[in-house]
Amino acid sequence: MTATLRAIQADITTLDVDAIVNAANSSLLGGGGVDGAIHRAAGPELLAECKTLYGCKTGDAKATRGYRLPARYVIHTVGPVWHGGNAGEPGLLASCYRRSVELAAGLGAKSMAFPAISTGVYGYPKEPAARIAVFTVRNAVQLQGILEEVIFCCFSNADLVIYKAILNESA
Ligand code: AR6
Repeated sequence: MTATLRAIQADITTLDVDAIVNAANSSLLGGGGVDGAIHRAAGPELLAECKTLYGCKTGDAKATRGYRLPARYVIHTVGPVWHGGNAGEPGLLASCYRRSVELAAGLGAKSMAFPAISTGVYGYPKEPAARIAVFTVRNAVQLQGILEEVIFCCFSNADLVIYKAILNESA
């Protein structure tokens, strides 16, 4: 079965999917951007569970429950900080998407949503990051065969335009 990949413009904390992905930092103890929004919406129990995980390496992911979020699980992944592109950033970003799909599938998730990992505070250029996201997720989802729907949750309309173009050209 082929999963549906689509892009929408939304606040990821409002999405009623089995798992949402958090663009966290390696402490997993919260921060700004989408990380801050997810912790605020999930409530303090999320931070309490994150404290039991002892951090996460760049390119890897760890799962928690979603608490007060509509989503059942949060997959916390740590994207690379952009240092110009020659410090392994593309491989690390791809690893975030791949590991997140693997974890979600392992939890039995049929639907999941991603923010544009690393493209905020971490400075990864938006277009190349979106290409990695679409390409990696499409391959990982095919391998897992569990997920039915993956949403690329864009915060801005500019991001939505980028994702829609990439999804259309590579469909
Ligand atoms: N829903 C969906 N997307 C959002 C939301 C939201 N509610 N809020 C922001 N975005 P960023 P990073 C988008 O900076 O670059 C944190 O402090 C945002 O527009 O959240 O991976 C962590 O703790 C952008 O497109 O994450 C780390 O220290 C995307 O989410 C650091 O920032 C990612 O932006 C991680 O930086």
